[in-house]
Amino acid sequence: MFSKNLYTGRRKKLAAKIRSGIILIQGNAEAAMNYTANTYHFRQDSNFLYFFGLDQPDLIGIIDADNHKEYIFGNDTDIEDIIWMGPQPTIKELASDVGVENTGPLDKVAELLAAGIKSGRKIHFLPTYRGEQVIQLHRLLGLIHSRVNDYASMELIRAVVDLRSVKDRYEVAEIEKAIDIAYDMFTTGMKMAHPGVYEREIVGVMEGISIAGGNPTSFPVILSINGQTLHNHKHGNKLVPNRMLMMDAGSESQMHYASDITRTVPVGGKFSSKQKEVYQIVLEANMKSIDAIHPGVTYKSIHLFAARTIAQGLKELGLMKGNVEEAVASGAHALFFPHGLGHMLGLDVHDMEGLGENNVGYDHTVMRSDQFGLAYLRMAKTLVPGYVLTVEPGIYFIPELIDQWKAEKKFAGFINYDKIAGYMEIGGARIEDDVLVTPEGHKVLGRPIPKTVGEVETTVRG
Ligand code: GLY
Repeated sequence: MFSKNLYTGRRKKLAAKIRSGIILIQGNAEAAMNYTANTYHFRQDSNFLYFFGLDQPDLIGIIDADNHKEYIFGNDTDIEDIIWMGPQPTIKELASDVGVENTGPLDKVAELLAAGIKSGRKIHFLPTYRGEQVIQLHRLLGLIHSRVNDYASMELIRAVVDLRSVKDRYEVAEIEKAIDIAYDMFTTGMKMAHPGVYEREIVGVMEGISIAGGNPTSFPVILSINGQTLHNHKHGNKLVPNRMLMMDAGSESQMHYASDITRTVPVGGKFSSKQKEVYQIVLEANMKSIDAIHPGVTYKSIHLFAARTIAQGLKELGLMKGNVEEAVASGAHALFFPHGLGHMLGLDVHDMEGLGENNVGYDHTVMRSDQFGLAYLRMAKTLVPGYVLTVEPGIYFIPELIDQWKAEKKFAGFINYDKIAGYMEIGGARIEDDVLVTPEGHKVLGRPIPKTVGEVETTVRG
């Protein structure tokens, strides 16, 4: 846990931004996996962690913005709980650790909210993403289940996004811890990338390293010799020569800050000449995009810069043709690079995505495009020191998409469809790092994970 003062400061800033009303921050409950008592690994809500710091189920935090009072509601353990869970601190003791004076049992929350509503005060709450949260809001506020998110407070969403977007040095240090765990996950996984090994064996080892470092992975591991499927969670293939293995994974630090890294390696440790050609283009897009990160620049412009770098590289290979600027402006490159350059990273791997992608990655200066490919860009707005971003360009050979566009003769002036057949075995290549926006420019966070052709080949063979 961070210091008490840090949580107190965050809540004060939030109250000052909201100015009036009652702010309700729901902690998560346990979620049943296959029967009630057999639960998924507990993950606290990230907003609750940010403002109230306590990492256990069934807590509610309240900030009364008018009366400058803060509360934590939760039930103290009784002797039956203690038999199963061991002795537990009281809610009062937990609250004191994060600088909150007022506590009460969960059944008192409804009374406090009802009194607020009766006197005409606004109850600010955030959008829900779990059934348990919806049921709780229905019980507390009498909202119809299916309409709960319609009543989420836009003022609260904006205030939370403002605060959580800019990471302080303690948060950056946590993200770096999560990247350092990822360093061990990736270098170990790379060394296993040899013919005959099953994908699931590598996934199992990488997940184990994450857990040993403090917490499970920050999202289900993406690891496949079929890297052309952007988020491939099937791990049943046996590694074979002449394929590349895409590894996209991250850990959570003990304080639940995430890392998110991607590396693509040749099975057996030697890139073929075609694999190397494609890999080098992705590497150039990754490194040049990182270099372009500075305060005041929009991330959309860096995404388009990455797209032009990829289109230029593919033109040099003969897979694309024509004017690169025009090709990217029209969206032709998205045949090979159909996703966004990256997203914010923090307590969530797609940081704050539960508050709405557009509320996090876009603002009044940058509107979301509806062009194929660009439409998937999660983060587009102007960069500010303290933002932490992923930079994850890729090139993919997706057979179904290529067949469809070829049949439609789509962007035939920019794409050499006849040349693509020779590259289908590449599958996909993506390279991803986690980058802090600094006042001077940027800093690639964490211990550098092998990335150049030479480093990757040496690590796999090592
Ligand atoms: N690296 C996984 C994702 O961004 O969704």
